[in-house]
Amino acid sequence: MAQRKIKVAHLKELQPLIGKKILVENKEIGLFLTEGGNVYAVNNICPHKNGPLSEGIVSGEFVYCPLHDQKVDLTTGIVQEPDTGCVESYKVEIIDEDVYVCL
Ligand code: FES
Repeated sequence: MAQRKIKVAHLKELQPLIGKKILVENKEIGLFLTEGGNVYAVNNICPHKNGPLSEGIVSGEFVYCPLHDQKVDLTTGIVQEPDTGCVESYKVEIIDEDVYVCL
C-alpha cells in the first residue's frame, strides 16, 4: 500500500524537548522536536505498560518513558538495552514549516 502523508502540526506548535500527542486515523502518535532541531514521530504507547511517551523526557535522539524510564530511540522506535521492545516509528517531512507524518 502506498504511504500517505498526513499534515499533523505546524512547526511552531512544537517545543524543543516537549512531546506532543496527536491522533491520526486511530493511531496515537508522539511528535518530538529534539534540541538539535530534528522532528520524530513514534507510536505514543510504550510497549512496556502503555506509558504515554509524549509525556516523557527527551534527551538527544531518545525519549524516556514517563512511567518506568525505558529509553526509546526516536529514530528507530527501538527500546534500548537492558529493556527490549519496539514502537512503530514514522517518517516525518517538514514542508513550509508544516509537519507531515507518513503512515
Ligand atoms: S510503561 Fe513505559 S517503561 Fe513502563
